[in-house]
Formats: sequence, structure tokens, C-alpha cells
Amino acid sequence: MSSTLDNPFFARLWTVMAAHETEAIRRLRRENLAGLSGRVLEVGAGTGTNFAFYPDTVTEVVAVEPEVRLAEHAVTAAAAAPVPVTVRTETIEHFTASGGEQFDAVVCSLVLCSVGDPQDVARQLFSLLRPGGQLRYLEHIAGTGGRARLQRIADATVWPRLFGNCHTHRHTERSLADAGFMLAAARREWTLPRWLPVPVAEFAIGRAVRPS
Ligand SMILES: C[S@@+](CC[C@H](N)C(=O)[O-])C[C@H]1O[C@@H](n2cnc3c(N)ncnc32)[C@H](O)[C@@H]1O
Repeated sequence: MSSTLDNPFFARLWTVMAAHETEAIRRLRRENLAGLSGRVLEVGAGTGTNFAFYPDTVTEVVAVEPEVRLAEHAVTAAAAAPVPVTVRTETIEHFTASGGEQFDAVVCSLVLCSVGDPQDVARQLFSLLRPGGQLRYLEHIAGTGGRARLQRIADATVWPRLFGNCHTHRHTERSLADAGFMLAAARREWTLPRWLPVPVAEFAIGRAVRPS
């Protein structure tokens, strides 16, 4: 497995999409980062959209972004961030913390839908967090009924190819719980009208805590 990703179409598409996000998604990003402190690992940072929203109680962000074209944008965003951010261009599966040091928090937004094996990544993130540390997540998740059927069709056809391996029907919170995390403050939010036939209209936002 390569340590970087090379998907020029998705990189261009995501750069445009990230620059035109709705205020509803920006509000969720701010909520996802609120109250964080200490050293943070951000997984799959994309163009670095989250960086501007880190509170000044964060002392350092190590941001992993394996898609080189997106990482270039992330480096620019890091230079303008209110807290120190270092961008590393490898997949989270290839990431090793220097000196085996653990993080106070891990941030995942719109990324656990795209990693190859969410169970393995959840276990890895558990080990990278200090006991008592939190993983903050803002993710697409598996819906129910007709939405679930739409998601399965999307995932089996064009969606992952168009959107950098994004799988819309993932039981992300179950993967986190199976890895040993305790879920706290978990809730769902719709950022588009429920009647719209879009597989990613619903988000899960919450905190997954590594027990002390
Ligand atoms: C939909 S974008 C979201 C970007 C960013 N997290 C955000 O909230 O704007 C998904 C990101 O996950 C990254 N990604 C995909 N697979 C990854 C992996 N195995 N390890 C780390 N990042 C990954 C992609 O390169 C892309 O930047």
C-alpha cells in the first residue's frame, strides 16, 4: 500500500467544494474543535479547512494529508492558522508519532468514510491517543430505510470513484466503539433538507474518548 494518494480529479473537486462550504458545515466544524487543548493529530486534513477554527488552547496540530495536491493547500492554510500546524504527506495507516508520543486529541472530519479499513484506523487512532484523550469526529454515516439503500447503491457505483474513496454507508460510530472508545455527546445533524435524495445529507458529530 502506497504511503501517499494520487487522485487528481478528486483533489481538484475537493479544493472547489471546500472553498464553497455552507455556513451549516462551517458551524459543525467549529463545534467539532471547540474546547480542544494540547497536541492534536488531524487525520486527512484536505485543504486545511479546519485549521482556522482551532482554539488557541491547542499548542500544536500535526495534520496528515496524503493527497499531495491537497497537502499543498493545507501547507498554505497552516501558515495562516492561529496555532502551529505541521502538515505530513502520508496516509494515517503509515503515520508514526515521533518518539511514540501520544496525542491529547485526534480530529477526524469527513475522513473515516474514505480510509481503506475504518476498523483498523479506529484501532490505530485509539493507540495514538493518550488515555483520557478524545477523538472528535464529524462524519457522514450510514442512514436507514430508503437513504441506506441509496447509500449502498452510491457506494457500489460511482461515489467512491468520484469522491476519493468516500463510502457513505459506514457505521463509523460502531467502528469507534469496537476499537475501545467510549462515545460521548454523539448526535446527528442534517445539513440539507431530508427529502433531498443525497447520500451525504446527514452528519454524525461527537466525541469518542479513550478510557483512562
Ligand atoms: C472529503 S476529504 C475531507 C478533508 C478534511 N478532513 C475536511 O474536513 O475538509 C477526505 C480527505 O481524507 C483524505 N484521506 C483519504 N484516505 C486517507 C488515509 N488513508 N489517511 C489519511 N487521509 C486520508 C483525503 O486525501 C482527503 O483529504
